Amino acid sequence: MSAPAPIIIVGGGIAGLSAALAAAPAPVLLLARASGTRGAASALAQGGIAAAIDPGDSPQAHARDTCVAGGFHNDPAIVDLLTINAGDAVGWLQDIGVAFDREPDGRLQFCREGGHDRARIVHAGGDATGAKVMEALVAAARAATHIERRVGVDVDGLVLRDGQVCGVCVTRADGGREALHGRAVVLATGGIGGLFAQTSNPADADGNGLALALAAGAAARDLEFVQFHPTAMALPGLHSLPLVTEALRGAGARLLGTDGASLMDGVHPLADLAPRDIVARRVWQAGRDGGAWLDAHKVGAAFPQRFPTVFQACMDHGIDPRVQPIPVTPAAHFHMGGISVDADGHSSLPGLFAVGEVACNGVHGANRLASNSLLEGVVFGRRLGALLRPLADGGQPRGSFRMVRRKPSLDAAQLDYLRALMMQAMGPLRSGATLQAALQDCTELAGSGWQGELAQRMLGEALRRTASLGAHYRSDAPPVG
Ligand code: SIN
Repeated sequence: MSAPAPIIIVGGGIAGLSAALAAAPAPVLLLARASGTRGAASALAQGGIAAAIDPGDSPQAHARDTCVAGGFHNDPAIVDLLTINAGDAVGWLQDIGVAFDREPDGRLQFCREGGHDRARIVHAGGDATGAKVMEALVAAARAATHIERRVGVDVDGLVLRDGQVCGVCVTRADGGREALHGRAVVLATGGIGGLFAQTSNPADADGNGLALALAAGAAARDLEFVQFHPTAMALPGLHSLPLVTEALRGAGARLLGTDGASLMDGVHPLADLAPRDIVARRVWQAGRDGGAWLDAHKVGAAFPQRFPTVFQACMDHGIDPRVQPIPVTPAAHFHMGGISVDADGHSSLPGLFAVGEVACNGVHGANRLASNSLLEGVVFGRRLGALLRPLADGGQPRGSFRMVRRKPSLDAAQLDYLRALMMQAMGPLRSGATLQAALQDCTELAGSGWQGELAQRMLGEALRRTASLGAHYRSDAPPVG
């Protein structure tokens, strides 16, 4: 008798691993481009996990902050699912070995970040939460007997029988190709930062899973909403930039222009802690006027202990952040849009599920609240894994066969061109004219490779949304009020 077909999960970040672990004892085949924590944006996350755990806090207050940040474009029922299950998610991570930072008296330490009305963020290893959470998840997945992991494979096709997704096509590192059959296919491939000239994501977060789902005809949602982090380290010529966490501004760091004056005074009542999109636009503008710097000297001697990841990245580039300002620039950070899914991760294609940043269930609205992304991966990943657990293997499917492949990839020069185009037209500051011009410019690239086709779709959606909302800011239609 042949082995039962597994649940195929594509992507080895926090959402994919959480889903894989929660599906036990159902067999899971986890496919990833890179091994361990490499290649996953989750491992680079410096913010923490937001959860209303403190007795004075409530999931309702967390939900309110999530919707304010999201421009009330969020789906309130999905937001409730996120915030009500946040405490459980943190508890589960502790159970698998994540040691969250604690106060000297042993209580969990809660920090405050932009957009939260109180301190409710837990961190692990200071600014290394993503890395610590990924270490624990990868170790748990390696120890789990129901999970088979295959790395170094690119999933570039979907197999359908009678309109039902029932497998994937992979290209191996040696160039060989094969089709794999699964009882369900879950895309957990992360975001699209790699399509922009500057990103806080790894280059592999390039929208490959989203492009594949779109090629197969899956419905998408909110593709125009891309969040830019205001402070990535400005390193000319580099694509994937080290993040300089927002928590530094919470600890007193200030943004300065070329003349040494504050960039944020007078721009917003919260100055350096204004909402992320407002700070990103100001830093973007300052970049055109000569540059922007983050002066973090106030953090002082505690810098290496409190922010070890940022400290190391600065020192690696010859900057001592205790005494020297850090050059910063906005970078594509998070995609609020993605494959349209319901609360249980069902896409519009039977048999195809999506979870984490590649999916859009409406939780983030038009702008994600700080420290809600790792949380989303754990909450909705576990929910999806539990849902798929009892799904029976229907056996080798019959019916009309269809294989959908992504277009080939653009070459390196075309990709560089596209990334610059996306940064200019779909960046923190947009306008109808630049979007229209970029859309035209993109036509040839859309014919040549899947990245061009995906960019064309995103540009089209941004052009169609004529009013500014959340992270989608149009200078030709600024927000009212
Ligand atoms: C940061 O640490 O500044 C980023 C946190 C997040 O994206 O939620």
